[in-house]
Amino acid sequence: MPGFKGRDLIELVDYTPEEVLFFIETGLDFKRRFYSGERVVRVLDGRVIALVFEKPSTRTRVSFEVAARQLGAESIYLGWGELQLARGETLADTARVLSRYVDGVVARVREHWKLVELAKHATVPVINGLSDISHPVQALGDMMTVLEKKGRLRGVKLVFVGDGSDNVLNSLLVAGAKLGLHIVVSSPRQLRPNEELLKHSLEVAEETGATIEFIEDPYEAVRGADIVYTDVWVSMGQEALREERVRLLKPYQVNQRLMEAAGGKALFMHCLPAMRGEEVVDEVIDGPQSIVWDQAENRLHIQKAVLALLIP
Ligand code: CP
Ligand code: NVA
Repeated sequence: MPGFKGRDLIELVDYTPEEVLFFIETGLDFKRRFYSGERVVRVLDGRVIALVFEKPSTRTRVSFEVAARQLGAESIYLGWGELQLARGETLADTARVLSRYVDGVVARVREHWKLVELAKHATVPVINGLSDISHPVQALGDMMTVLEKKGRLRGVKLVFVGDGSDNVLNSLLVAGAKLGLHIVVSSPRQLRPNEELLKHSLEVAEETGATIEFIEDPYEAVRGADIVYTDVWVSMGQEALREERVRLLKPYQVNQRLMEAAGGKALFMHCLPAMRGEEVVDEVIDGPQSIVWDQAENRLHIQKAVLALLIP
């Protein structure tokens, strides 16, 4: 499919349903090639990708760095505090300079506007590696996992249980709407998704046949679920809200009772890192319905798709 090279990936809002599906098909193709012995596919020979991270990361950092190598490219990890950014150089100037050295930038930021600012001034693609608002590369990997496990995306009932204002949820809504899923959000009513992304998702859903529902009671919400998905109750940067979040979200813990209410076909997903004993218990995350390790692995293959398609 033409038309990907040189583009940023700040939100999946900027991609058509066909393009979102193409990312996923490309990820599945890279995975198949990897397991048939083609570990390195040199489509980005000689390229260099910079990772500019303002927050910690295990999966996003390592999967992008390994993905770059498996495409014949190299990566440079740049902690925010080690750059002149920390001493007041502007994001615009940083973007201009990095663009003279590297072929693409993956950025993880505390505030989403910083991604937008980087992308505005960079002349190479800028990829969202998580912000306070969204995590599109996670959602792409997750949709790849759903397709792999369930054999379809259209009509799959994915129930997100927990923090309704979660950044990963925001991206799952956009991706799910584009791909025709039935997404149910089960959360206390005061924790709502990002308004703009929800509005876009609801509009897209009208065209694709996807559905988005809000059901406060988690036991009612998960009935007949194909996927039960959760994320941490306290995201990075929200530590001050911990006490209130734990109080609000206790009834939304994914435990054996909730998985039983979901029924036998429900698979458990979590973007990780998990806070065991809070949003999920050991018996579920380590249990037979959990697919979290395959889900984490797929980040690697989808990252290859994202880099191979976007980096010129
Ligand atoms: N899921 C995810 O993005 O994990 P990291 O924070 O470890 O990158
Ligand atoms: N919602 C979590 C996701 C981590 C990958 C956070 O932002 O901390």
